[in-house]
Amino acid sequence: MATVRLDHLRKVYPNGHVAVAEASFEIADGELLVLVGPSGCGKTTLLRMIAGLESISGGTLSIGGRVVNAVAPKDRDIAMVFQNYALYPHMSVAENLGFGLRLRGEPKAAIERRVQEVAKMLELEHRLAALPAALSGGQRQRVALGRALVRDPKVFLLDEPLSNLDAKLRLTMRVEIARIHQRLGATMVYVTHDQIEAMTLGQRIVVFNGGVIQQIDTPMKLYERPANLFVAGFLGSPAMNLLRGTLHREGGWRLATSAGVLGLGEPAQAAALEAWLDREVVLGVRPEDLALHAGDGPAALAAHLEVLEPVGNEVFLNLRYGAQPLVARMPPRALPAPGSTVALVLAVDRLHFFDAQEGVRIGD
Ligand SMILES: Nc1ncnc2c1ncn2[C@@H]1O[C@H](COP(=O)(O)OP(=O)(O)OP(=O)(O)O)[C@@H](O)[C@H]1O
Ligand SMILES: [Mg+2]
Repeated sequence: MATVRLDHLRKVYPNGHVAVAEASFEIADGELLVLVGPSGCGKTTLLRMIAGLESISGGTLSIGGRVVNAVAPKDRDIAMVFQNYALYPHMSVAENLGFGLRLRGEPKAAIERRVQEVAKMLELEHRLAALPAALSGGQRQRVALGRALVRDPKVFLLDEPLSNLDAKLRLTMRVEIARIHQRLGATMVYVTHDQIEAMTLGQRIVVFNGGVIQQIDTPMKLYERPANLFVAGFLGSPAMNLLRGTLHREGGWRLATSAGVLGLGEPAQAAALEAWLDREVVLGVRPEDLALHAGDGPAALAAHLEVLEPVGNEVFLNLRYGAQPLVARMPPRALPAPGSTVALVLAVDRLHFFDAQEGVRIGD
Protein backbone atom coordinates (compact mmCIF):
# COMPACT_ATOMS: atom_id res chain seq x y z
CA MET A 1 0.00 0.00 0.00
CA ALA A 2 1.08 3.59 -0.32
CA THR A 3 0.81 7.21 0.60
CA VAL A 4 -0.72 9.51 -2.01
CA ARG A 5 0.25 13.15 -2.02
CA LEU A 6 -1.41 15.97 -3.93
CA ASP A 7 0.55 19.18 -4.10
CA HIS A 8 -1.26 22.18 -5.62
CA LEU A 9 -2.96 19.86 -8.06
CA ARG A 10 -4.93 21.72 -10.70
CA LYS A 11 -7.16 20.83 -13.63
CA VAL A 12 -8.24 23.17 -16.37
CA TYR A 13 -10.18 21.46 -19.18
CA PRO A 14 -9.31 22.40 -22.78
CA ASN A 15 -12.46 24.57 -22.95
CA GLY A 16 -11.02 26.71 -20.14
CA HIS A 17 -13.23 25.29 -17.36
CA VAL A 18 -11.34 25.15 -14.06
CA ALA A 19 -12.59 21.88 -12.56
CA VAL A 20 -10.00 21.73 -9.76
CA ALA A 21 -8.56 25.10 -8.75
CA GLU A 22 -6.03 23.84 -6.22
CA ALA A 23 -5.96 20.64 -4.22
CA SER A 24 -3.27 19.88 -1.65
CA PHE A 25 -3.56 17.02 0.82
CA GLU A 26 -2.05 13.68 1.70
CA ILE A 27 -3.75 10.31 1.96
CA ALA A 28 -1.93 8.22 4.54
CA ASP A 29 -0.97 4.62 3.93
CA GLY A 30 -4.00 2.48 4.75
CA GLU A 31 -6.33 5.43 5.19
CA LEU A 32 -9.91 5.57 3.93
CA LEU A 33 -10.28 9.18 2.87
CA VAL A 34 -13.66 10.44 1.71
CA LEU A 35 -14.00 13.21 -0.84
CA VAL A 36 -17.43 14.81 -0.61
CA GLY A 37 -19.09 17.70 -2.40
CA PRO A 38 -22.08 18.63 -4.56
CA SER A 39 -22.54 17.50 -8.16
CA GLY A 40 -20.09 19.12 -10.57
CA CYS A 41 -17.60 20.25 -7.90
CA GLY A 42 -14.72 18.30 -9.47
CA LYS A 43 -14.63 15.03 -7.52
CA THR A 44 -14.46 12.67 -10.50
CA THR A 45 -11.92 14.94 -12.18
CA LEU A 46 -9.65 14.76 -9.13
CA LEU A 47 -9.98 10.98 -8.94
CA ARG A 48 -9.25 10.58 -12.65
CA MET A 49 -6.12 12.69 -12.26
CA ILE A 50 -4.93 10.39 -9.46
CA ALA A 51 -5.69 7.34 -11.62
CA GLY A 52 -3.88 8.88 -14.59
CA LEU A 53 -6.99 8.94 -16.80
CA GLU A 54 -6.97 12.73 -16.96
CA SER A 55 -3.91 14.90 -17.57
CA ILE A 56 -2.71 17.18 -14.75
CA SER A 57 -2.70 20.92 -15.56
CA GLY A 58 -0.57 22.00 -12.61
CA GLY A 59 1.03 20.79 -9.38
CA THR A 60 2.44 17.38 -8.53
CA LEU A 61 0.97 14.01 -7.67
CA SER A 62 3.12 11.48 -5.80
CA ILE A 63 2.33 7.88 -4.94
CA GLY A 64 4.60 6.14 -2.45
CA GLY A 65 7.04 9.07 -2.61
CA ARG A 66 7.39 8.96 -6.42
CA VAL A 67 6.10 11.78 -8.63
CA VAL A 68 3.73 10.12 -11.11
CA ASN A 69 2.40 13.07 -13.15
CA ALA A 70 3.78 11.53 -16.32
CA VAL A 71 3.38 7.85 -15.38
CA ALA A 72 0.85 5.85 -17.43
CA PRO A 73 -2.30 4.65 -15.59
CA LYS A 74 -1.30 0.99 -15.83
CA ASP A 75 2.02 1.71 -14.15
CA ARG A 76 0.51 3.55 -11.16
CA ASP A 77 -0.78 0.37 -9.49
CA ILE A 78 -4.16 1.94 -8.81
CA ALA A 79 -7.61 0.42 -9.24
CA MET A 80 -10.62 2.61 -9.85
CA VAL A 81 -14.26 1.64 -9.35
CA PHE A 82 -16.35 3.85 -11.59
CA GLN A 83 -19.57 5.73 -10.92
CA ASN A 84 -21.43 3.50 -13.43
CA TYR A 85 -19.80 0.05 -12.71
CA ALA A 86 -18.59 -0.29 -16.36
CA LEU A 87 -18.90 -4.10 -16.41
CA TYR A 88 -18.40 -5.96 -19.69
CA PRO A 89 -21.93 -7.11 -20.57
CA HIS A 90 -20.86 -10.09 -22.68
CA MET A 91 -18.53 -11.50 -20.03
CA SER A 92 -19.54 -13.67 -17.09
CA VAL A 93 -18.94 -12.52 -13.53
CA ALA A 94 -15.80 -14.69 -13.37
CA GLU A 95 -14.48 -13.24 -16.65
CA ASN A 96 -15.25 -9.69 -15.52
CA LEU A 97 -13.42 -10.31 -12.26
CA GLY A 98 -10.39 -11.87 -13.93
CA PHE A 99 -10.15 -9.43 -16.85
CA GLY A 100 -7.48 -7.17 -15.37
CA LEU A 101 -5.31 -10.15 -14.44
CA ARG A 102 -5.65 -11.70 -17.91
CA LEU A 103 -4.58 -8.39 -19.41
CA ARG A 104 -1.49 -8.50 -17.23
CA GLY A 105 -0.75 -11.99 -18.55
CA GLU A 106 -1.07 -13.79 -15.22
CA PRO A 107 -1.18 -17.61 -15.35
CA LYS A 108 -4.65 -19.10 -15.69
CA ALA A 109 -4.53 -21.08 -12.45
CA ALA A 110 -3.45 -18.01 -10.45
CA ILE A 111 -6.29 -15.98 -11.97
CA GLU A 112 -8.83 -18.65 -11.09
CA ARG A 113 -7.58 -18.86 -7.53
CA ARG A 114 -7.69 -15.10 -7.05
CA VAL A 115 -11.16 -14.79 -8.62
CA GLN A 116 -12.43 -17.50 -6.24
CA GLU A 117 -10.94 -15.71 -3.25
CA VAL A 118 -12.49 -12.38 -4.12
CA ALA A 119 -15.84 -13.92 -5.10
CA LYS A 120 -15.92 -15.56 -1.69
CA MET A 121 -15.13 -12.30 0.08
CA LEU A 122 -17.98 -10.57 -1.77
CA GLU A 123 -20.39 -13.54 -1.61
CA LEU A 124 -20.51 -13.91 -5.36
CA GLU A 125 -19.28 -17.54 -5.57
CA HIS A 126 -22.67 -18.87 -6.72
CA ARG A 127 -23.00 -16.18 -9.43
CA LEU A 128 -19.64 -16.63 -11.18
CA ALA A 129 -21.17 -17.98 -14.39
CA ALA A 130 -23.87 -15.31 -14.67
CA LEU A 131 -23.81 -12.38 -17.09
CA PRO A 132 -24.08 -8.87 -15.58
CA ALA A 133 -27.59 -8.44 -17.02
CA ALA A 134 -28.80 -11.30 -14.81
CA LEU A 135 -27.48 -9.71 -11.62
CA SER A 136 -29.17 -7.42 -9.12
CA GLY A 137 -27.86 -3.88 -8.71
CA GLY A 138 -26.06 -4.82 -5.51
CA GLN A 139 -24.44 -7.85 -7.13
CA ARG A 140 -23.25 -5.75 -10.09
CA GLN A 141 -21.79 -3.29 -7.67
CA ARG A 142 -19.94 -6.07 -5.89
CA VAL A 143 -18.52 -7.33 -9.19
CA ALA A 144 -17.27 -3.82 -9.96
CA LEU A 145 -15.64 -3.71 -6.56
CA GLY A 146 -14.30 -7.23 -7.01
CA ARG A 147 -12.59 -6.26 -10.26
CA ALA A 148 -10.58 -3.72 -8.31
CA LEU A 149 -9.91 -6.12 -5.44
CA VAL A 150 -8.49 -8.99 -7.53
CA ARG A 151 -5.65 -6.78 -8.70
CA ASP A 152 -4.48 -6.08 -5.16
CA PRO A 153 -3.42 -2.54 -6.06
CA LYS A 154 -1.54 -0.01 -3.94
CA VAL A 155 -4.47 2.41 -3.96
CA PHE A 156 -8.22 2.05 -4.50
CA LEU A 157 -10.22 4.91 -5.96
CA LEU A 158 -13.99 4.57 -5.62
CA ASP A 159 -16.20 7.03 -7.46
CA GLU A 160 -19.69 7.09 -5.92
CA PRO A 161 -19.79 3.29 -5.97
CA LEU A 162 -23.18 3.08 -4.27
CA SER A 163 -25.04 5.85 -6.07
CA ASN A 164 -27.09 3.48 -8.24
CA LEU A 165 -28.36 1.34 -5.37
CA ASP A 166 -31.55 1.62 -3.35
CA ALA A 167 -31.37 2.94 0.21
CA LYS A 168 -31.27 -0.45 1.92
CA LEU A 169 -28.56 -1.89 -0.32
CA ARG A 170 -26.49 1.24 0.05
CA LEU A 171 -26.45 0.69 3.76
CA THR A 172 -25.39 -2.95 3.46
CA MET A 173 -22.70 -2.14 0.89
CA ARG A 174 -21.44 0.78 2.96
CA VAL A 175 -20.75 -1.58 5.84
CA GLU A 176 -19.25 -4.07 3.36
CA ILE A 177 -16.80 -1.45 2.08
CA ALA A 178 -15.82 -0.47 5.61
CA ARG A 179 -15.21 -4.16 6.38
CA ILE A 180 -13.11 -4.67 3.24
CA HIS A 181 -11.08 -1.60 4.08
CA GLN A 182 -10.38 -2.89 7.59
CA ARG A 183 -9.48 -6.34 6.31
CA LEU A 184 -7.11 -5.18 3.58
CA GLY A 185 -5.73 -2.14 5.37
CA ALA A 186 -5.82 -0.58 1.92
CA THR A 187 -5.32 3.06 0.97
CA MET A 188 -8.70 4.19 -0.38
CA VAL A 189 -10.18 7.38 -1.72
CA TYR A 190 -13.94 7.25 -1.68
CA VAL A 191 -15.95 9.86 -3.56
CA THR A 192 -19.56 10.60 -2.73
CA HIS A 193 -22.00 13.47 -2.70
CA ASP A 194 -23.92 11.79 0.14
CA GLN A 195 -22.99 13.42 3.42
CA ILE A 196 -24.20 10.46 5.52
CA GLU A 197 -21.96 8.11 3.55
CA ALA A 198 -19.07 10.53 4.02
CA MET A 199 -19.61 10.85 7.76
CA THR A 200 -19.98 7.11 8.41
CA LEU A 201 -17.16 5.83 6.18
CA GLY A 202 -14.42 8.43 6.29
CA GLN A 203 -11.58 8.46 8.77
CA ARG A 204 -11.00 11.91 7.37
CA ILE A 205 -13.19 13.83 4.98
CA VAL A 206 -12.23 16.36 2.33
CA VAL A 207 -15.12 18.73 1.67
CA PHE A 208 -14.91 20.05 -1.85
CA ASN A 209 -16.93 22.78 -3.56
CA GLY A 210 -16.49 24.55 -6.87
CA GLY A 211 -13.07 22.96 -7.40
CA VAL A 212 -11.80 24.30 -4.07
CA ILE A 213 -11.15 22.39 -0.83
CA GLN A 214 -13.30 23.83 1.95
CA GLN A 215 -12.07 21.77 4.91
CA ILE A 216 -10.22 18.54 5.67
CA ASP A 217 -10.98 16.94 9.03
CA THR A 218 -12.41 13.99 10.92
CA PRO A 219 -16.19 13.58 10.65
CA MET A 220 -16.73 14.81 14.22
CA LYS A 221 -14.52 17.88 13.78
CA LEU A 222 -16.35 18.80 10.59
CA TYR A 223 -19.67 18.51 12.36
CA GLU A 224 -18.64 20.32 15.51
CA ARG A 225 -16.40 23.00 14.01
CA PRO A 226 -17.31 23.64 10.38
CA ALA A 227 -14.77 26.10 8.97
CA ASN A 228 -17.24 28.04 6.87
CA LEU A 229 -20.88 28.40 5.88
CA PHE A 230 -20.61 25.92 3.04
CA VAL A 231 -19.39 23.09 5.29
CA ALA A 232 -21.88 24.11 7.99
CA GLY A 233 -24.79 23.80 5.59
CA PHE A 234 -23.54 20.73 3.72
CA LEU A 235 -22.92 18.29 6.58
CA GLY A 236 -25.77 17.39 8.89
CA SER A 237 -29.33 16.31 8.16
CA PRO A 238 -31.56 18.20 8.73
CA ALA A 239 -29.12 20.99 7.95
CA MET A 240 -27.82 23.54 10.43
CA ASN A 241 -30.13 26.55 10.91
CA LEU A 242 -28.44 29.73 9.73
CA LEU A 243 -29.67 33.14 10.88
CA ARG A 244 -28.19 36.41 9.71
CA GLY A 245 -28.19 39.38 12.07
CA THR A 246 -26.24 41.94 14.04
CA LEU A 247 -24.57 41.06 17.34
CA HIS A 248 -25.41 43.20 20.37
CA ARG A 249 -24.97 42.97 24.09
CA GLU A 250 -27.64 44.22 26.48
CA GLY A 251 -27.02 42.22 29.62
CA GLY A 252 -26.87 38.95 27.65
CA TRP A 253 -25.82 38.64 24.04
CA ARG A 254 -28.41 39.25 21.34
CA LEU A 255 -28.74 38.78 17.62
CA ALA A 256 -30.95 41.33 15.87
CA THR A 257 -32.40 39.61 12.79
CA SER A 258 -35.07 40.74 10.33
CA ALA A 259 -37.50 38.41 12.16
CA GLY A 260 -36.81 39.73 15.66
CA VAL A 261 -34.17 39.78 18.38
CA LEU A 262 -32.81 36.44 19.61
CA GLY A 263 -31.47 36.02 23.13
CA LEU A 264 -28.12 34.22 23.03
CA GLY A 265 -27.35 34.29 26.76
CA GLU A 266 -23.61 33.95 27.27
CA PRO A 267 -22.22 32.04 24.25
CA ALA A 268 -19.15 29.85 24.77
CA GLN A 269 -17.20 32.10 22.37
CA ALA A 270 -18.25 35.35 24.17
CA ALA A 271 -14.70 36.66 24.77
CA ALA A 272 -13.62 36.23 21.16
CA LEU A 273 -16.90 37.62 19.86
CA GLU A 274 -16.36 41.03 21.50
CA ALA A 275 -14.63 42.13 18.31
CA TRP A 276 -17.82 41.32 16.38
CA LEU A 277 -20.22 43.46 18.42
CA ASP A 278 -22.43 45.68 16.24
CA ARG A 279 -21.34 43.76 13.15
CA GLU A 280 -23.25 41.47 10.87
CA VAL A 281 -22.73 37.75 11.47
CA VAL A 282 -24.44 34.48 10.67
CA LEU A 283 -25.50 32.39 13.65
CA GLY A 284 -25.51 28.61 13.14
CA VAL A 285 -27.67 26.35 15.30
CA ARG A 286 -27.88 22.59 14.76
CA PRO A 287 -31.47 21.26 14.92
CA GLU A 288 -30.59 19.26 18.06
CA ASP A 289 -29.42 22.45 19.78
CA LEU A 290 -32.89 24.04 19.58
CA ALA A 291 -35.21 22.88 22.38
CA LEU A 292 -38.68 23.71 23.67
CA HIS A 293 -38.56 26.28 26.43
CA ALA A 294 -39.51 24.78 29.78
CA GLY A 295 -39.14 26.14 33.29
CA ASP A 296 -37.15 29.18 34.30
CA GLY A 297 -35.20 31.76 32.40
CA PRO A 298 -36.06 33.65 29.25
CA ALA A 299 -36.76 31.94 25.93
CA ALA A 300 -34.41 32.71 23.02
CA LEU A 301 -37.19 33.16 20.50
CA ALA A 302 -40.81 32.37 19.70
CA ALA A 303 -41.55 30.61 16.42
CA HIS A 304 -44.57 29.29 14.59
CA LEU A 305 -44.75 25.49 14.43
CA GLU A 306 -45.76 24.47 10.90
CA VAL A 307 -45.19 20.73 10.46
CA LEU A 308 -44.13 17.81 12.65
CA GLU A 309 -42.16 15.04 10.96
CA PRO A 310 -41.84 11.90 13.08
CA VAL A 311 -38.93 9.68 11.95
CA GLY A 312 -39.20 6.99 14.62
CA ASN A 313 -36.73 7.75 17.37
CA GLU A 314 -37.10 11.50 16.92
CA VAL A 315 -39.38 14.19 15.58
CA PHE A 316 -38.34 17.04 13.31
CA LEU A 317 -40.16 20.29 14.07
CA ASN A 318 -40.45 22.54 11.05
CA LEU A 319 -40.85 26.06 12.34
CA ARG A 320 -40.98 29.56 10.98
CA TYR A 321 -39.38 32.55 12.67
CA GLY A 322 -40.63 35.56 10.69
CA ALA A 323 -39.73 34.62 7.11
CA GLN A 324 -36.95 32.34 8.30
CA PRO A 325 -37.55 28.57 8.32
CA LEU A 326 -36.06 26.70 11.29
CA VAL A 327 -35.78 22.99 12.07
CA ALA A 328 -35.53 21.48 15.54
CA ARG A 329 -35.12 17.78 16.33
CA MET A 330 -36.04 16.13 19.60
CA PRO A 331 -37.26 12.86 21.11
CA PRO A 332 -40.91 12.05 20.39
CA ARG A 333 -42.92 12.99 23.45
CA ALA A 334 -45.73 15.42 24.26
CA LEU A 335 -45.26 18.08 21.59
CA PRO A 336 -47.21 21.22 20.76
CA ALA A 337 -49.69 20.98 17.90
CA PRO A 338 -48.87 22.35 14.45
CA GLY A 339 -50.24 25.86 14.11
CA SER A 340 -49.21 26.91 17.60
CA THR A 341 -46.53 29.37 18.61
CA VAL A 342 -43.70 27.79 20.60
CA ALA A 343 -41.00 29.29 22.77
CA LEU A 344 -37.54 27.89 22.09
CA VAL A 345 -34.18 27.91 23.82
CA LEU A 346 -30.72 27.50 22.29
CA ALA A 347 -27.84 25.40 23.57
CA VAL A 348 -25.68 28.51 24.05
CA ASP A 349 -22.47 26.51 24.49
CA ARG A 350 -22.94 24.87 21.08
CA LEU A 351 -23.54 27.85 18.82
CA HIS A 352 -21.62 28.55 15.63
CA PHE A 353 -20.78 32.00 14.30
CA PHE A 354 -19.65 33.01 10.83
CA ASP A 355 -18.55 36.24 9.23
CA ALA A 356 -21.53 37.39 7.15
CA GLN A 357 -19.30 38.66 4.32
CA GLU A 358 -16.68 35.94 3.92
CA GLY A 359 -18.65 33.08 5.44
CA VAL A 360 -15.69 31.93 7.57
CA ARG A 361 -16.05 30.66 11.11
CA ILE A 362 -15.40 33.27 13.81
CA GLY A 363 -15.17 33.41 17.57
CA ASP A 364 -13.18 30.21 18.21
N1 LIG B 1 -14.03 16.91 -20.47
C1 LIG B 1 -14.52 18.01 -19.89
N2 LIG B 1 -14.44 19.22 -20.49
C2 LIG B 1 -14.93 20.33 -19.91
N3 LIG B 1 -15.51 20.35 -18.70
C3 LIG B 1 -15.64 19.18 -18.05
C4 LIG B 1 -15.14 17.95 -18.59
N4 LIG B 1 -15.41 16.96 -17.71
C5 LIG B 1 -16.02 17.55 -16.67
N5 LIG B 1 -16.16 18.87 -16.86
C6 LIG B 1 -16.75 19.84 -15.93
O1 LIG B 1 -15.93 19.92 -14.78
C7 LIG B 1 -16.73 20.04 -13.60
C8 LIG B 1 -16.38 18.94 -12.64
O2 LIG B 1 -16.83 17.70 -13.16
P1 LIG B 1 -16.72 16.35 -12.36
O3 LIG B 1 -17.23 15.26 -13.21
O4 LIG B 1 -15.34 16.23 -11.83
O5 LIG B 1 -17.72 16.65 -11.15
P2 LIG B 1 -18.22 15.68 -9.96
O6 LIG B 1 -17.92 16.40 -8.69
O7 LIG B 1 -17.67 14.33 -10.12
O8 LIG B 1 -19.81 15.67 -10.16
P3 LIG B 1 -20.88 14.46 -9.93
O9 LIG B 1 -21.14 14.41 -8.43
O10 LIG B 1 -22.08 14.94 -10.67
O11 LIG B 1 -20.31 13.20 -10.46
C9 LIG B 1 -18.17 20.06 -14.06
O12 LIG B 1 -18.61 21.39 -14.14
C10 LIG B 1 -18.11 19.42 -15.43
O13 LIG B 1 -19.15 19.91 -16.25
MG1 LIG C 1 -18.51 12.46 -10.51
